[in-house]
Amino acid sequence: MKTLADLGDVRGQRVLVRVDFNVPLDGSTITDDTRIRAALPTIQQLSGQGAKLILVSHLGRPKGEVDPKYSLAPVAARLGELVGGHVTLAPAVVGDEVTALAEDLAEGDILLLENVRFEAGETKNDPELAAALAGLADAYVNDAFGAAHRAHASTAGVAEILAPKAVAGLLLQKEVETLEGILAEPKRPLVAIVGGSKVSDKIGVLDRFLDIADHVIIGGAMLFPFYKAQGHSVGGSLCEEAGVPLAEQALAKGGDKLVLAVDLTCGESFSADTAVQVIDGVDTPEGWMGLDVGPKSAARAAELVKAAGSVLWNGPMGAFELPPFAAGTRAVAEACAETDAITVIGGGDSVAAVTQFGLADKMTHVSTGGGASLELLEGKALPGVEAVR
Ligand code: 3PG
Repeated sequence: MKTLADLGDVRGQRVLVRVDFNVPLDGSTITDDTRIRAALPTIQQLSGQGAKLILVSHLGRPKGEVDPKYSLAPVAARLGELVGGHVTLAPAVVGDEVTALAEDLAEGDILLLENVRFEAGETKNDPELAAALAGLADAYVNDAFGAAHRAHASTAGVAEILAPKAVAGLLLQKEVETLEGILAEPKRPLVAIVGGSKVSDKIGVLDRFLDIADHVIIGGAMLFPFYKAQGHSVGGSLCEEAGVPLAEQALAKGGDKLVLAVDLTCGESFSADTAVQVIDGVDTPEGWMGLDVGPKSAARAAELVKAAGSVLWNGPMGAFELPPFAAGTRAVAEACAETDAITVIGGGDSVAAVTQFGLADKMTHVSTGGGASLELLEGKALPGVEAVR
């Protein structure tokens, strides 16, 4: 990958930086600014070197139309606080007014374009939009790992136009090097943990982990298609029918590598104040649903994590957002925090879990990508990464 060092001296140059500021919002309040903070090293380095920064990001899925609900205004304000300076929010993505603002930038200034998905051409990787974005700048940096699996105008099209001055930012570089590194040369034993609700969402990554890992621990509601395939009763548990044949294939391929739960924590309903029972075994009784792995299974998973050389974790062990069903996910998170192994948390709900437990800073790497990290772990080429190779 080409990196910031390949840009040489950036003083006085206009640099278009694609960031992933797709943060969760409650109205106009940012409820988690992790992705903004993760982009700071690149922003601060370039701004400190005297570049004129033009940041571009999407927020939500506004479908090619201006929708004030998806304005980046709250992000501009938060970024300004974090960098301790003013961040100008452009009134649009491209156009005369935006060009004038870009031309007026002084060294170190930061201009944030409005939500790039206000332009219909963004998700179509429209060459006109890519050219208009490229026209604003002398060089391009992609630091939006979370959006690197999208071949959009701001992640792929613009990079082609500004090449060879199109490089990876520090976050994108760290994400790709860490995830690819653990896949290519893992310190063994490599323990992979795959959780979540659907086998069909995770089959790509599960298949890959069955090839390269020493142990593959399954958690979450995706356990139930496995149990169904084995002839167990699943009671009222969430059990994806389409996942059953996929689970059968994984069982045939995985053999001893696959570590399924041997006990379950069940609830009468999906709520925090429901009746709870732990069953020793994996046949969910009628009228109950399995909502977490049981204590024996949690202890076994924790033991494997503590003895690991590397751990790759994607997807929770149970409904950790409900306190009675958080123990399995918490046990894995705590084991990851305590182990000497390299621990990589590959995006999505498992990131929300380690954050909820206050353990995110105890992990070797917590990915900012959901879909992007999943696709990279599956072994797919990411258009946003390929564009800066
Ligand atoms: C994400 O949140 O996973 C990224 O920002 C990508 O968003 P998207 O799924 O709307 O493309």
